[in-house]
Amino acid sequence: MAQATSAPAAPAPSDSTKKLWGGRFTGKTDPLMEKFNESLPFDKRLWAEDIKGSQAYAKALAKAGILTHVEAASIVDGLSKVAEEWQSGVFVVKPGDEDIHTANERRLTELIGAVGGKLHTGRSRNDQVATDYRLWLTHQVAVMRSELQELIRVAADRSEAEVEVLMPGFTHLQNAMAVRWSHWLMCHCAAWQRDDMRLRDLTPRVATLPLGSGALAGNPFRVDRQFIARELGFVGGVCPNSMDAVSDRDFVIETVFACSLLCTHLSRWAEDLIIYSSGPFGYVQCSDAYATGSSLMPQKKNPDALELIRGKGGRIQGNLTGVLAVLKGTPTTYNKDFQECWELLFDTVDTVHDVVRIATGVLSTIKIRPEKMKSGLSADMLATDLAEYLVRKGVPFRETHHLSGAAVKMAEDRGVGLSELRVEDLQTIHPLFTEDVVAVWDFNRSAEMRDTEGGTSKRSVLEQVAKMRSYLAQEQAGPAAQ
Ligand code: ARG
Repeated sequence: MAQATSAPAAPAPSDSTKKLWGGRFTGKTDPLMEKFNESLPFDKRLWAEDIKGSQAYAKALAKAGILTHVEAASIVDGLSKVAEEWQSGVFVVKPGDEDIHTANERRLTELIGAVGGKLHTGRSRNDQVATDYRLWLTHQVAVMRSELQELIRVAADRSEAEVEVLMPGFTHLQNAMAVRWSHWLMCHCAAWQRDDMRLRDLTPRVATLPLGSGALAGNPFRVDRQFIARELGFVGGVCPNSMDAVSDRDFVIETVFACSLLCTHLSRWAEDLIIYSSGPFGYVQCSDAYATGSSLMPQKKNPDALELIRGKGGRIQGNLTGVLAVLKGTPTTYNKDFQECWELLFDTVDTVHDVVRIATGVLSTIKIRPEKMKSGLSADMLATDLAEYLVRKGVPFRETHHLSGAAVKMAEDRGVGLSELRVEDLQTIHPLFTEDVVAVWDFNRSAEMRDTEGGTSKRSVLEQVAKMRSYLAQEQAGPAAQ
């Protein structure tokens, strides 16, 4: 080991015990300090990655002539035995097992003897820890992507199946225009697709190999880092600078950022559905699987899953702030502060897995009530269409906007709906209003008019669905197919 497994002796107890705070010092590491320092309780979940990394490193040491092939084989086999112990739950943690790296190496040496002590040659926990987490995170990002793609698939399928359904669209949460329910679904898909792309794009930066950087200055035994990168499947190659390799936690920060933005999107999606499921709206109804009742009010069905998704967005945002704050102000290369990032990273990744899977469950089981959505459509949402009617007759839009506004006011003053105004009434506002204006009072027509790419017409929404599906197919075929 390059580092001792226990801290150096503290000042002699006789001195320190005389001091007010002396009782805490026993000449050995303070047990509280030991607990404060250890990371094994959470980093033991990296046992498999730590062992894989060590096996690749042993092979590289053999390639470099530092280990004989027999020694390397004994280390690789011994590490496989350690892995089996973790796998079957019989690995025994011992005092001094400060983290997963020390625990695995201690056990390896117990199993195969002194030759185990050769494994750490030229390596530091600084390049080791970053390697382990990058290996773990690369896989987790791939899993998060497949979960997110499943959510997108469910949304695209619903969009196609329910494309006829119209609902009120809002800006500022005020009545705006009639849109397709599927258009709303595809709106969220568009954000999720960007999240998926972000996770795709950051993958090679996560999957870049620090190992072979030593503590900070590089490896003195000429280990073949490209070989280790290939062995471990690091598609991004090797970290280009050994000081940066042990210093860099961008891979944590940018993944937590991507997760945080994804959770922000999911939180806004959830917020919409919470509103839509509320009494006055009633556009959707959560399935029993994702709702709870009230302990007091028998009629209540609360959208807990959606509220939790909204809440988790705040939690992950806190994690992002946390990792940024831990890194800020640390001097170049490794500092123990970095250890504080891991639990935030684990929490982020675990939470995202749950949030995305729950969102998929909610979306695939939520009931829609098209008649409620329809009854939410009011004629004032056609005021823009009324203005556009005159635009098509050559009146400049800025004028038609005012003219339609005058019609809205007239209807309001008379206490009737906009569509209840008679043609003669409209003609007092502008002579170009003629009998054919009645065609404007049709929400489906209003939606169908918006047929430009990205719009809410049926054709346009189905085109958005088709494009989303081909994106999914392309991503699922893998990089080789692209
Ligand atoms: N548990 C440590 C961490 O997570 C491992 C690296 C320790 N390196 C060191 N030089 N003490 O950061």
